[in-house]
Amino acid sequence: MIASLFPEFLAPTPLQELRGLTGQGSRRVFMKREDLRDPELGGNKWCKLAGHLIAARAAGYTRLISVGGAWSNHLHALALAGRRFGFSTIGLVRGEPVMTATLQDAIDAGMTIQFVSRENYRQRNTDEGLAGLAKPYGPAWLIPEGGSGLPGHAGVAHLAAELAQQVTGDVLLAVPVGSGTTFAGLIKALPSRFQVWGFQAFHDDTLASRIADQLPEMHAGAGWRLHETPGMRSHRRLPFVLEDQLKSFEAEQGIALDPVYTVRMMAALQQMFESRVIPREYTILALHTGGLQGRRGHGLAKAA
Ligand SMILES: Cc1ncc(COP(=O)(O)O)c(C=O)c1O
Repeated sequence: MIASLFPEFLAPTPLQELRGLTGQGSRRVFMKREDLRDPELGGNKWCKLAGHLIAARAAGYTRLISVGGAWSNHLHALALAGRRFGFSTIGLVRGEPVMTATLQDAIDAGMTIQFVSRENYRQRNTDEGLAGLAKPYGPAWLIPEGGSGLPGHAGVAHLAAELAQQVTGDVLLAVPVGSGTTFAGLIKALPSRFQVWGFQAFHDDTLASRIADQLPEMHAGAGWRLHETPGMRSHRRLPFVLEDQLKSFEAEQGIALDPVYTVRMMAALQQMFESRVIPREYTILALHTGGLQGRRGHGLAKAA
C-alpha cells in the first residue's frame, strides 16, 4: 500500500555490515540504513508519517498539525513531507519563541510555526488536549508528538515486511526508542524469529507500560525487551564520552549517527557485546532511524 503511494518505499534500504566494533568479535552485525530511505525524509519519521499522510488524505484533510521541540526531527520531516505531497503544515512548538536551524528549514518548507508555553504544551498527550491546542487553526489532521498513533504503526509495518524479506534465521533487531511507536509497530508486525530490543534514549519510568498498551495481548512480554542506554539521563547535552563514540563510529564505519537516539543505542549494544549478554546464534541488526538534521543542535555538521 505505502509503496504504491510513495515511491521512496519501492526499493528496500540497504543492510550495511559493521566491522571492528568494540567487543564485536566474530559476530555479524548489520545496520539497517533507514536513514537512506530519502535524502530529506529518511529515517523512522518517514515511516510513521507516511501512515499519517495516507490516513489524512483518506479522511479528506489538506492541513496537518503536529507538535514538537525546537530541534524536532518529527516537525522537520513533517514540513518537508507536507511540501512534497501537497499538505499545508502547522507546527506547535514547545516553549519560548526561539529560532533553530530545524525550525528555519521547516519554515522554508512552508510550515507555519506557533510557539506554545510549556504549561499548555503538557496538554498534547491526550487526544482532547491535542485537539484543544490545534483548535484555533481550523480543521486539520492531527498527528501526535513524534508521529505516534495507529497510522504511525501502519507505516512501520512496511519496514517490518522489508526486514523480514532481507534476513533469514534468528535475528536480534536493535531499535532506538523515544515514544516507542516505531518499536511497538515493529514488534507487532515482525515474525517471531525476530527478537526486538528497544534502547531507551531518555529516562522514563512509564515507557514500558505505554509500549505494552500499544501491543495486542499476544505480545505481552514476548519477543521484546527494553534496555537503558548510557547518557539517557542527560536530556539536552550529549555527554563527552558519547560524542567521542559518535565520532569514532563515523570515522570507522563511515556512517553518521544522530546525537540523541542511534548513538545511545550503539553505545549500549557495544557494552552488551563486551559483557557477552547476546546469544551467539542471532544475526544482529541495528536500525538507523535517521535524525541527522538534529546534529546541528549539538554543534555537529548535519551529516558526515
Ligand atoms: C532519529 C530518531 N530515532 C528514533 C526515534 C524514536 O522513535 P519513536 O518515537 O517511534 O520511539 C526518533 C523520534 O523521536 C528519532 O527522531
